[in-house]
Amino acid sequence: MIHKTTIDQVYEAARLEEVIGDFVQLKKSGSNFKGLSPFTDERTPSFMVSPVKQIWKDFSSGKGGNVVAFLMEHEHFSYPEAIKYLAKKYNIEVEETEQTDEQKEQASARESMYLVSEFAKEYFQNQLVKTDLGKAIGLSYFKERGFTEETIKKFGLGYSPDEWSAFTDAAVKKGYQLEFLEKTGLTIVKEERKFDRFKGRVMFPIHSMSGRVLGFGGRILTNDKKAAKYLNSPESDIYHKSKVLYGIYYAKQSIAKEDVCYLVEGYTDVIQFHQTGIKNVVSSSGTALTPEQIRLVNRLTKNITVLFDGDAAGLRASLRGIDLILEQGMNVKVCAFPDGEDPDSFAKNNTLEELTAYLNDNAKDFIQFKASLLMNEAKSDPIKKAELVRDMVTSISKIPDRIQTEIYIRECSRIMDISEEVLYSTLAQMGKKELADANKKYKQQQKEQAFSVVKNPESVKKIDALFELERKIIQILLLYGNQEEDFEDLVLKENDENELILEPEVHKAKVFEKIYLDLQQDEIELANDQFKDIYYSLIETLNEHESFKIDQFVNILPPNLSSIVTGILMDDEKYQLAKWEEKDIFVKEKHQTISQLVSETILSLRCFLIQQKVTELQQETAEKQDHNKEVLEEVMNYHSLKILLAKKLNRVV
Ligand code: CTP
Ligand code: MN
Repeated sequence: MIHKTTIDQVYEAARLEEVIGDFVQLKKSGSNFKGLSPFTDERTPSFMVSPVKQIWKDFSSGKGGNVVAFLMEHEHFSYPEAIKYLAKKYNIEVEETEQTDEQKEQASARESMYLVSEFAKEYFQNQLVKTDLGKAIGLSYFKERGFTEETIKKFGLGYSPDEWSAFTDAAVKKGYQLEFLEKTGLTIVKEERKFDRFKGRVMFPIHSMSGRVLGFGGRILTNDKKAAKYLNSPESDIYHKSKVLYGIYYAKQSIAKEDVCYLVEGYTDVIQFHQTGIKNVVSSSGTALTPEQIRLVNRLTKNITVLFDGDAAGLRASLRGIDLILEQGMNVKVCAFPDGEDPDSFAKNNTLEELTAYLNDNAKDFIQFKASLLMNEAKSDPIKKAELVRDMVTSISKIPDRIQTEIYIRECSRIMDISEEVLYSTLAQMGKKELADANKKYKQQQKEQAFSVVKNPESVKKIDALFELERKIIQILLLYGNQEEDFEDLVLKENDENELILEPEVHKAKVFEKIYLDLQQDEIELANDQFKDIYYSLIETLNEHESFKIDQFVNILPPNLSSIVTGILMDDEKYQLAKWEEKDIFVKEKHQTISQLVSETILSLRCFLIQQKVTELQQETAEKQDHNKEVLEEVMNYHSLKILLAKKLNRVV
């Protein structure tokens, strides 16, 4: 168990935006940060981080919470794993209360697998640099490939002795359980016998985005044609090949900073690039790219440059995989290396300046590259050409951005000497099916919604204060949701006497962000079901579309909700704020600014809910004839809170 003081220290030190920033590229947006959801495939950022409140919310998946919740969701850490991760990041020593044998056994299997993998990495590293055989066989191999000691250390490269079970024996002797050695694939168990999977190979540990060892690649050192050149850890509870990119841990910061990611094929390509000075590089380890791998990169940058070996053989096949990258709305460039060279050899034989220049000169936009390449192949064969037109248009059809699509169509038309009209009509033919599907789905949804209205006949609307306040919030979101305003927030500060005080601080935020975060902080849910539905789709839409248009929004709503929205937009006299006072709602009549209107409406809603709570409690105590001290205290607390809020509203209750 981790000691409570450690946990407290961790919470104190951790900055949410820094922690999340290691995984998601965040951009400042008002007083918040925004980024692409790390949990879904998305192109417009709907992931929000509030540094003031130290909470995050992912609108596309609905997930949210504090810093630990993020790590648990994103890295699939357990609670103690998350705390330990943060402690490491912020240099906090972890104090643990003594574990019993039983507790040790209960430590999760995954955690044990991580530990075994970490041990294996260290073991292989030691073998490489501290044993005679390791130095003679492994280290000399890496040096021959041109890796410096610094590089070898940085990537944790190692050597697995050429004996049947040297590693397994060492691990078992250290107290690691065979179960986890087998589960990670480090040891192969056959009946009573145990074998080291990576016997006699040089080792490349594979890290997660956050630097944990998930698995290994091991390269053979002999010329044995029958044995695989590279052997990799099998799939396991901690190693999912399709979700890992080799080198991402070492590359992530540089990818975000340089705003481009180089994608290569192998371990050695990554390492050699690093050593030459290009750090924003990852490898898919010889297999076709998967959507999950692309998503890892997409969080850090929109730009990817795929680097190909000199031999043109696999090129066409590889090009297909690139459509997947286009699908995620990324900009793709490709760069081929001279005949007989791969990124590894080229980086080894050239300086940083030469390598950079080569990449800059030879990285071509993917669509142009593909069009030229295919054109060369098709030349004057009309059947082949027709085929390639479809091939090109298929790629273009994956691009989600309209303007970009248009640019590419023009470009292709030029390169392939085909009219834009033909390309567009081919595109339309392809799009048809998807369009038809989308239409069908929408109609189905509408039908279901129509039904649900019939099933739950609208209860008679109670025109009460709460109703009007909630309605007001919807109205504000509709009219001003997207506007950026200065808001005053009370921030905890230290004064000259080292006392903690609350001080107002002005920060910029979009109206919808302010409303959303404030209501979320107080865990306020709109009571009216329909307002609640409208509220959430409004927040979602506002968050996804910079250029929010009311009329478009109305169109996407089911009929019963859209009529409510239009009603809200139409009314003028009926819900004027002046009348609210009659109902004891503390909203000023005239609002000098939208920011005031927003703050006051939220405060009024809070006031109202508190009043409701107080009344409830009072009734409770009256009924029971039991002046329970705790309840009274609660009433008093609510009462003073109400006075405080009312003061903020510039009113005296
Ligand atoms: N690979 C693999 N299994 C193999 C061959 C290759 O997993 N049998 C993966 C490795 O991740 C390797 C990548 O595919 O790094 C690229 O393969 P290749 O070009 O053959 O390897 P290189 O990285 O060039 O390896 P080396 O230079 O060490 O020969
Ligand atoms: Mn190579």
